[in-house]
Amino acid sequence: MSQVPTLAALLSQLVVDAADRAGHAGVLDTVEPATPTNNPKFGDYQSNHAFRLGKALRTNPRKVAETVKSELTDHPLVDRIDVAGPGFINFHLNPTAVAAHVALQTASSTAGIPQAGANHTVVIDYSSPNVAKRMHIGHMRSTIIGNAFHRLYEACGWTVVADNHIGDWGTQFGKLIVSWHKDLDKERFAADPIAELERLYVAFGTWAEEDPSLADAARAETAKLQAGDEDNTRLWKTFIEISLREFESVYQRLGVEFDVTLGESFYNDALPGVVDSLLDAGIAIEDDSAVIIDFPEDHPVRAVRNRKLVIRKSDGAFLYGTTDLATLEYRLKEWSPREIVYVTDGRQQLHFTQVFEAWKTWRTSRGLSTDDVALRHSWFGTLKLPQGSMSTRKGNVIRLVDLLDEAVSRSRAVIDAKSSDLPDHERAAIAEAVGIGSVRYADLSQNPQSDVIFDWDRMLSLDGNTAVFLLYSAARCFSILRKVGVDASTLDLSVAAPEHPRERELVLALARFPEVVAIARQSHRPNLLCDHLFETAQRLNRFYAACRVIQKDGIADPSRLALVALTGRVFRSGLSVLGIPVLERM
Ligand code: ARG
Repeated sequence: MSQVPTLAALLSQLVVDAADRAGHAGVLDTVEPATPTNNPKFGDYQSNHAFRLGKALRTNPRKVAETVKSELTDHPLVDRIDVAGPGFINFHLNPTAVAAHVALQTASSTAGIPQAGANHTVVIDYSSPNVAKRMHIGHMRSTIIGNAFHRLYEACGWTVVADNHIGDWGTQFGKLIVSWHKDLDKERFAADPIAELERLYVAFGTWAEEDPSLADAARAETAKLQAGDEDNTRLWKTFIEISLREFESVYQRLGVEFDVTLGESFYNDALPGVVDSLLDAGIAIEDDSAVIIDFPEDHPVRAVRNRKLVIRKSDGAFLYGTTDLATLEYRLKEWSPREIVYVTDGRQQLHFTQVFEAWKTWRTSRGLSTDDVALRHSWFGTLKLPQGSMSTRKGNVIRLVDLLDEAVSRSRAVIDAKSSDLPDHERAAIAEAVGIGSVRYADLSQNPQSDVIFDWDRMLSLDGNTAVFLLYSAARCFSILRKVGVDASTLDLSVAAPEHPRERELVLALARFPEVVAIARQSHRPNLLCDHLFETAQRLNRFYAACRVIQKDGIADPSRLALVALTGRVFRSGLSVLGIPVLERM
């Protein structure tokens, strides 16, 4: 099935065609999509095309708008067109035609979402925890936000390579190996391997404080590992395997899947070549037997001016940045991506700016272009839990599993109160879905770059901008259809003919959905999609309060029933883009 256009694209095209006919072809080289108006008084959508044309032509934009308007052809979606203000073109849409358009959108395999990425690949580097420790809440945002990007890009037709760039190399292994030989408890290890590894790692810190020689021993073990020592390599592999198994259980619960897990160690062999090539090109220099990239005082990117990036230490060890340069080259060669997205917290901004700048200089020095790929460090703010909101076990690191368990048990209380009519096992399953969904949603519903404070009461509120509110709204649509006894998949949805203002505002929100997905993907802001779904749910509630769907005699109004079914479909698509599967019954 061919792509169903968005209202924004369709209306913009009408204006552009009319402007061409009015003799303004080729004046502007970009088209800004039409946007919804803020006030229904001014119609439903507006275009600023004539306004921009007027500026470019240095003529009165309002006059341009009038000329363009006179050239606009009739379209079934458009009831009336006004010219407003300095030159805006406002569209009053035909609600029945909009509903029919929504029916087409929701019936298409893409849910009507523009497939802008149809010929493009994106590599998304997310989660990427360091191994030998359990995942703690510091890993949560990268995992959840990164996975939302993963789903957003996929929804927009991109080929996604999700790469978990785990930290599986480094000095932590020498320490762990020393502790392992010193104090491994075989029984504990057999019962709970990751817990034993964690204990050994923490114990190393305590011992090393008393006995400084242990630090040397750890360095020696790391060096042996790096030199390929058989025993240490075997241990190292065991540690990684155990960690990955632990990560996998968290990923499964969160609904996260990677295409590849190429950790730092994967690039080891490439590192000497990277450093040599940078030295040869004169981009890196020797500095006190280390090798550094020294960004000059007048470097065009201010953030890196006068800042050094060390790529080889004086003892010969390579660093995080060296690995990232090798990783970048590998990804380009392997997948020819149009974009590479890195999802980490804001503290790594300087690191990525340095890596990107060094790579650009390096690539240019080899006569290669840097234009065919966009590198995006999509950073996020920190996550905070209010004091005393969770009983922490030992230490103050909150494990991700514990956080998820807490969310599930708290949502169980909410579900028990609200859905007491459902059998126990069903409530347990709902609580798991709502708990995990609420954690995801609490993270995604804010601008990624702001700090997030987890407020349990707010995130499980039944009538706020929460997963549970949206899930109940979706379930309400499904329950209405069940009550009427119709099969939603065979229901004729083209009969929706919104008349009441509450019906009209609902159908407009449904039509807008694909546009919002495209914007959320492009701007890396899943919160825009959350806001839109929240708005849709509020409109559904208002519609439901104002308009009877099921009449007194138990017979449903076919148009309104179709509207309910369409709303259910939009929730289904929208929440799945956020990684929150809808529940048929709550
Ligand atoms: N392992 C790193 C950390 O825990 C994140 C890696 C991010 N990706 C990258 N290519 N540097 O901070």
